[in-house]
Amino acid sequence: MAVVSSAHSAIFSKASLFHHINGFKRFTFCLPFSSSAAASLSTKKKWRQPVASSVLELGGTKIAKDDVVRDDPTNNVPDTIFSKLGMQLHRRNNHPLGILKNGIYEYFDTNYPNMFDKFDDLCPIVSVKQNFDDVLVPADHVSRSYNDTYYVDSQTVLRCHTSAHQAELLRGGHTHFLVTGDVYRRDSIDSTHYPVFHQMEGVRVFTPENWEGSGLDPTSFAADDLKKSLEGLARHLFGAVEMRWIDAYFPFTNPSYELEIYFKEKWMEVLGCGVMEQEILKSNGRSDSVAWAFGLGLERLAMVLFDIPDIRLFWSNDERFTSQFSQGQMGVKFKPFSKYPPCYKDMSFWISESFTENNLCEVIRGIAGDLVEEVTLIDNFTNKKGMTSHCYRIAYRSMERSLTDEEINDLQWNVREQVQNKLNVVLR
Ligand code: DAH
Repeated sequence: MAVVSSAHSAIFSKASLFHHINGFKRFTFCLPFSSSAAASLSTKKKWRQPVASSVLELGGTKIAKDDVVRDDPTNNVPDTIFSKLGMQLHRRNNHPLGILKNGIYEYFDTNYPNMFDKFDDLCPIVSVKQNFDDVLVPADHVSRSYNDTYYVDSQTVLRCHTSAHQAELLRGGHTHFLVTGDVYRRDSIDSTHYPVFHQMEGVRVFTPENWEGSGLDPTSFAADDLKKSLEGLARHLFGAVEMRWIDAYFPFTNPSYELEIYFKEKWMEVLGCGVMEQEILKSNGRSDSVAWAFGLGLERLAMVLFDIPDIRLFWSNDERFTSQFSQGQMGVKFKPFSKYPPCYKDMSFWISESFTENNLCEVIRGIAGDLVEEVTLIDNFTNKKGMTSHCYRIAYRSMERSLTDEEINDLQWNVREQVQNKLNVVLR
């Protein structure tokens, strides 16, 4: 359902809620070819080359579609998500996400010359260990559920945050790094949520000579440096804004904070950060050190910096969108080319125990793709027999053209059919 807050508020800022119930060849686990895909590639005759799009190269590793999308209960990756792998919007220098990434690089390069190693091509397919265990996400944390995360198999996921790379980079000897990448989360549908978005992670490690003589304990030293660095970053991006630090919770940091800025008459979260849990440093060969870490969502920031009203626009190939942005032009304001009218369709059904809104949204996206703008729960009641009914309003709207009644009726018809067939609910 529509969450009113801005794009992708961090799931990791919530404590566990679940009571009832190597990219580059030199590191990380990245999926090997499944045996069938590998065999078919090596024995294929010249005249039957695999179609280019069926094998992707991600962070130096080859991935076939069968490796990621399988009809198997441990796999919940739909075709629509596979089709986004390898798009790497953050590596396009003329795209708002690439412009923002480069703007952040510029801040670090200017203030800390040659200090930060940059990674923006690490494979998004990671192990459960990398995504969760290595950054101390508790075993019962809600983010691990199949309802929230895309699983390739029981031990492999599409990373749901760039923090998934912290441990391996520390082990690889990196002490100052920025990791940018596409991340994947099952979620509801509205103008600020999309199941694929982009994050940047930053880590800086300090050794005793850094803090000795400062008069501060290592944790306070790291926290001070963190706050100074990130306030500078926020000023670099947003100008002379008012800022405040909010105490937060993340499994991987202690203490943890969120940075907020006062922008366009409201407080807006810019990033999550903190002093890295000592256990992460210790497990990865840095027991004598302290470190800070931060993570930020690129869409959330780009939407306000460039005045982009809907998160789907980042995926648009429409020239009226793409031509408005160019390399190095941070913060040019997007001019909407036209606002096409939305069309609303309601559907009501009796839910079953296994029903979740994320599953509903995935079915709808599977049919309507980027033509669906928002899905909102507008009515919800339980009758005397204990049966619960939900009514959802689906807003269909294209960013690029007017939709015909016929087209929308077809979509809605398909949605009703698949919701009934796949979600174990009874339409009313
Ligand atoms: N991984 C967090 C998320 O996706 C964001 C984050 C918070 C990253 C704090 C960090 C951090 O490195 O220190 O919600």
